[in-house]
Amino acid sequence: MKKVIYLNGDWVTEDEAKVSIFDRGFMFGDGVYEVIPVYQSKLFAVDAHLARLRSSLQSVDITLPFASAFFLDLLKETVKRSNGRNGIVYLQISRGVQTPRNHEYPASIKPTVLTTFSEKELVAVDEIKSISVEISKDYRWERGDIKSTSLLANVMLKNQARKRGYDDAILSREGCLTESTSSNIFLAKGNVVFTPEKSNLFLHGITRDMLITFITQTGFTVEERIVLEEEIFEADEIWLTSSGRELVPVSSVGGIPVCSKNQESSVYRQVFEIYRQKVLKTTDCERVERLSDR
Ligand code: PDD
Repeated sequence: MKKVIYLNGDWVTEDEAKVSIFDRGFMFGDGVYEVIPVYQSKLFAVDAHLARLRSSLQSVDITLPFASAFFLDLLKETVKRSNGRNGIVYLQISRGVQTPRNHEYPASIKPTVLTTFSEKELVAVDEIKSISVEISKDYRWERGDIKSTSLLANVMLKNQARKRGYDDAILSREGCLTESTSSNIFLAKGNVVFTPEKSNLFLHGITRDMLITFITQTGFTVEERIVLEEEIFEADEIWLTSSGRELVPVSSVGGIPVCSKNQESSVYRQVFEIYRQKVLKTTDCERVERLSDR
C-alpha cells in the first residue's frame, strides 16, 4: 500500500508530495516536528505531544492559523487513512516558502504542514535487542528543548558512533549526561531509577515523562537530577527512551559491558512491562485522547 501523506490541505501519495526548494525547512532546517506513537490504532499521549508542539512553535515564532483541535483531527485522520495499527505519526511544520533566500522571514509567510504514518511491529520484551553506545561530547546548541528539524549535530553524532562500530552515542556536556542522539536516557542502580533533570539542553521526551509517571505509580523511586558521566560505569542498567523505540536497553558503553537485561529481575524488564501494559490499555489511550479533545 502506498503511503498516505497530508501536505498543506491535500491527501497525496509519496510520489505526489512535492515541496518547493525555497521552503525554509529545506534551506535552513527552519521547522519543528513531532513523532506521536500509535498503539492499536489510537494516538498515545497526544495531548502531551500537542502541548510540546505548541511550545516548539512558540519558541521559534511560527504562527499557525489552526487550533489544537485541527491537529488532533489531522493526526487521527492520518492514522485512519493509513489503516494504521501500531506505529508512529510524523508531523512536520516548516516556516514555509520564501524566495529569494533570506535569513529574515516575513510576517506573512505560510507554514508548510505535513503528516505521514509509518507502521511498526510491536516487539515483545524478549525480542528487543540491546544496543552498544559510546559517550560523545554534546556540542549541540543550547536549545535542545525545542523539537526542531535542524538536527545536523544529532545526525553527525549518530553517524560518528556508527562509523566507530557502536549503535548510538550518549551525550555529555561538561561532565553531565544530557540524552542520546534521538532519545532520552535512564540509569538504574539497585531499585532506584534516575535520569537527567530537565533543562534547555535536551528534549523533554514524552516517553520519559510517561515512564516516570507510570513507574512512580508502581512504587519505584525515580530521581530527576544532574547525572554525572562517571555514573554510567557505576549504574547496573542503562536504557534509552523515545516514542518510536519505546525503551531500548544498553548493553555496553565504549566497549565496557553494562545492563542485566536478560535477568528476569532486571529493573529494565520490570519497567518495560509496566510501560507496555499501560500503553496497551485502551482505556488509558482513550483517557489521554479525551483530555486533549477538551
Ligand atoms: N526522537 N531526545 C531527542 C534528541 C529526540 O530526538 C527524541 C525523540 C527524544 C525522545 O522524545 P519522545 O519520547 O518524545 O519521543 C529525546 C524522535 C522519536 C525522532 O526524532 O524520530
